[in-house]
Amino acid sequence: MTALAPQTIFLKDYAEPHHWVDTVHLTFKLAPRATRVMSKIVFKPNEANTGDLILNGEDLTLLSARINGAAIPHEQTDRHLIVKQADLPDGPFTFEAEVEISPETNTALEGLYMSSGMYCTQCEAEGFRKITYYPDRPDVMGVFTVRVESDLPVMLSNGNPQASGEGWAEWHDPWPKPAYLFALVSGDLLAHSGQFTTMSGKTVDLNIYVRKGDEDKCAFGLQALIDSMRWDEQVYGREYDLDIFNIVAVDDFNMGAMENKGLNIFNSSCVLASAETSTDATFERVEGIIAHEYFHNWTGNRITCRDWFQLCLKEGLTVYRDQMFSGDMRSHAVKRIEEVLQLRARQFREDNGPLAHNVRPESFVEINNFYTATVYEKGAEIIGMLRRLIGDEAYYKGCNLYFERHDGQAVTIEDWIKAFEDVTGRDLTHFQQWYSQAGTPRLSVTESWADGSLTLTFTQSTPPTPGQDDKRPQVLPIMIGLIAPDGSEVVPNTVLEMTESTQSFTFDNLAERPVTSILRDFSAPVILQRDIDAKTRAFLLAHDTDPFNVWEMGRMLAKDTLVAMITEGTPPTTDYLDALKTMLSDETKDPAFRALCLALPSQDDIAQTLFDAGTTPDPMAIYEQREELRHILASFLQDILPDLYDKNDAGAFKPDAEGSGKRALRMAVLSLLTLNDQGKAAQKLFETADNMTEQAGALMALLSAGIGQEELASFYAQWFHDRLVMDKWFMMQIAVAAPLEAAHIAQNLTHHSDFDMKNPNRFRAVFGALQGNHGGFHAPDGAAYKLLADWLIKLDPLNPQTTARMCGAFETWKRYDADRQSMIKDQLKRILGTPNLSGDTTEMVTRILG
Ligand code: PHE
Ligand code: ZN
Repeated sequence: MTALAPQTIFLKDYAEPHHWVDTVHLTFKLAPRATRVMSKIVFKPNEANTGDLILNGEDLTLLSARINGAAIPHEQTDRHLIVKQADLPDGPFTFEAEVEISPETNTALEGLYMSSGMYCTQCEAEGFRKITYYPDRPDVMGVFTVRVESDLPVMLSNGNPQASGEGWAEWHDPWPKPAYLFALVSGDLLAHSGQFTTMSGKTVDLNIYVRKGDEDKCAFGLQALIDSMRWDEQVYGREYDLDIFNIVAVDDFNMGAMENKGLNIFNSSCVLASAETSTDATFERVEGIIAHEYFHNWTGNRITCRDWFQLCLKEGLTVYRDQMFSGDMRSHAVKRIEEVLQLRARQFREDNGPLAHNVRPESFVEINNFYTATVYEKGAEIIGMLRRLIGDEAYYKGCNLYFERHDGQAVTIEDWIKAFEDVTGRDLTHFQQWYSQAGTPRLSVTESWADGSLTLTFTQSTPPTPGQDDKRPQVLPIMIGLIAPDGSEVVPNTVLEMTESTQSFTFDNLAERPVTSILRDFSAPVILQRDIDAKTRAFLLAHDTDPFNVWEMGRMLAKDTLVAMITEGTPPTTDYLDALKTMLSDETKDPAFRALCLALPSQDDIAQTLFDAGTTPDPMAIYEQREELRHILASFLQDILPDLYDKNDAGAFKPDAEGSGKRALRMAVLSLLTLNDQGKAAQKLFETADNMTEQAGALMALLSAGIGQEELASFYAQWFHDRLVMDKWFMMQIAVAAPLEAAHIAQNLTHHSDFDMKNPNRFRAVFGALQGNHGGFHAPDGAAYKLLADWLIKLDPLNPQTTARMCGAFETWKRYDADRQSMIKDQLKRILGTPNLSGDTTEMVTRILG
């Protein structure tokens, strides 16, 4: 065996495999430390690219390998099993192997592993090679039949159940699929079951499998699944294609969930939900992720990716689909604002730093490092722009053509775009550049008015990103509207298509000079740099018909206010305070929308804003002034807060848009109210709440005001037995800790008996919260940097994937002062210098250091 160094893989080097797979038969004899996997794979040579048989395999003990029943000469490295072309029979052949693996000691949670006593798998992207020897690449698709032998009662795999008996079960999946969609589960599980009748009248059995004790947390997820199945039929005409659809909840999982064919595996935090233990945000997330994984059945599974560079083909599109679904289930306006908040907080942050990359990357060392906000969220924005440019009808026509043309294939972004070129007759070459140019465009605008004509002149430019110095203009759909001085809309939603660096658009025959509403609904993922005077802003705040832009005007006001407080020591203007008060008191506006208006920009957002404006952000000043503003708001709004709090009591808990909107506003109000009443209202709510949204909301309000230690202890006493609620307990106290205390609190919590570094949810509860506490993470002593680095070094040998992902905490280091930069660099270098550091983490830290 020879050890190989990590390799960089390039999109331009793509070549078809030497062999295609026809059928795969697998038998698993499950045992914690010595699972046997017997495989029987029918291969056929690829006449277009003949060569050796190349099989991937890692951490496998090979017991036997045969071709057409006979032992074969083969080479083995620590990553491959290779049979020379000269040693292969002519034509199709059957390869059989037996390997041994150890699920119980698999802490990387990739391949076959154990979680709370159950067996489960995670194969995307390249985990199947840790299960058996196989051409583990998405363009190789096979028909799988799987036999599971286990001591545990439930035995599941992909497709339809075929036969079963005492201690065994067989599954057959009729749809050819790449190995990354393979899944197997065995455990002592309970099912929460239901049924769905498809549009052509077929009955599908639905099951959510959970550990005993969690069966009361499945009803919401099941309903979300049913809603998703119906929505995909009604909106995209896509029907489900097996007799059964299973979901399994797993406690130890690196990501949110996985779309394995007919057997979705979920991080339990993304499927379990109950009023007592889950917040509204969790309900919303569960609904969205269930939809996301279900929608992959068509966008990802029936049509899959040719190679991992095409990841955005399935992820961008599926995120876009789940966003549309959630908008239909709840409120499009509120959902869009939430999406943009996320996009700015995660994707713009990524695009502005050393990890910036194309939506379709051109090279990678470890594909696991490219499950990013850019691939997912910017990938979804691209689909939204495409739809805006070609219109709804052409969009759905193009989708249908794509589904018909490529069903059963592994395809590329070019294939996706081609379908839309064919239905519209348009050349989308320039548009496609969104996939190959990284960075967030800056868009500026000037207006000129003469003789009833308004001319808008836009200029775009994208700053350089690593490896891409020269940027070209992007195709931007800029949705605008024009509003007359009396508040009436004279030009409704209109999409301007910008393709040049500078471009003008003129509107004629206007009776009076209108006010322009630009980038409505956030129609393109850009940073709009608009010099807007206070009067225009106030006008749009009052009259814009686009809810996104109303929110955006308020957001700009809040940001400007904070920036002025931080950089000039100027107190908030009455403009801002009055506008906020008016907005909050406007009962014609959705409470969820008002809650979003009341939320202040995050500290991280302010830091990026200051940096963009050429100021080195001081995290302590950001923290202090944001707190100061909270106090100013609490006293300025003191007359209306108690009333708002009372009026937005949603009554009996229902996790729907209406109830969650009211609770969101109520909790945002409570957070300010707590600064006025020494915590009286929050304490009362904490004691009486019958739902987690309000219980946790009250606790957060108290902790944010520097009180609530007693409540924190009683929260523990009430919930110590519930893993998911305990994640919240860990997270909350770190998230709102004062800057100089955060690292210390986090460190103490790592010594708590309930801390378990092997559980990604728990690790993230502590360290995700620490990095999310901007002031605390960037405290001047560098204690948080060091603590995180210590734990990343500890986690790396156990779970490289989660370690590498958490390194993103450091991606913004170039924003800060020289002291902080050097402290962060020291920690990054210390991580990089760790002996035997994983390829995942090495790649991330190297890129971050730049
Ligand atoms: N494909 C999964 C999703 O987005 C994400 C995932 C990737 C899960 C890799 C596990 C491992 O839906
Ligand atoms: Zn996905």
